[in-house]
Amino acid sequence: MKKAHSNLASRRFGVRFLSSTLGIFFFTSLLGAQYEGWTIPPTAKTEKSPMAGVADAAKKGKSVFTGRCQRCHGPEGKGNGPEADPQVKPADLTQIKTDINPDGVLFYKIWNGHQPHAGSKGSMPAFKVQLVRDDVWRVIEYVKTLKAAT
Ligand code: HEC
Repeated sequence: MKKAHSNLASRRFGVRFLSSTLGIFFFTSLLGAQYEGWTIPPTAKTEKSPMAGVADAAKKGKSVFTGRCQRCHGPEGKGNGPEADPQVKPADLTQIKTDINPDGVLFYKIWNGHQPHAGSKGSMPAFKVQLVRDDVWRVIEYVKTLKAAT
């Protein structure tokens, strides 16, 4: 009797263990698919922008955008700039999915850029070599206004 009970308990434990391991596996592969080719640290989702709510941040961010981003993403951020690569289209920044792209995730997308795609030379460059952190946060404030405008 006692034995049967412990067998059942261990079987239950086994099922639970298996399903939670599978759960973790699916969860991490889902995350991987969401951010494929981007380098996003696990802490990114909760990282807060020091420029959120700062009065002229979006205005200053606009000049960063005009100088550095417009050539690919286009004047309205729609992904149709003069240097947009038809093989690897720049993202339409008016359509950013904010649920999977909170400020911190956007930050690392811009900071680290995107790996080149197979069969093409380029993609989104890494701006950590061109911009200081605060200007990246400022351009994010501006990019968010592009979404609001549509
Ligand atoms: C040389 C062209 C180029 C420049 C310059 C460029 N981007 Fe990009 N960007 C891309 C491409 C291409 C993608 C799509 C990523 C991919 O799949 O390779 C992208 C994607 C993005 C994304 C991800 C959107 C999403 O929904 O995941 C953001 C945010 C972004 N760019 C912001 C910027 C900002 C801000 C700047 C200026 C600081 C900038 N980009 C400059 C080409 C560029």
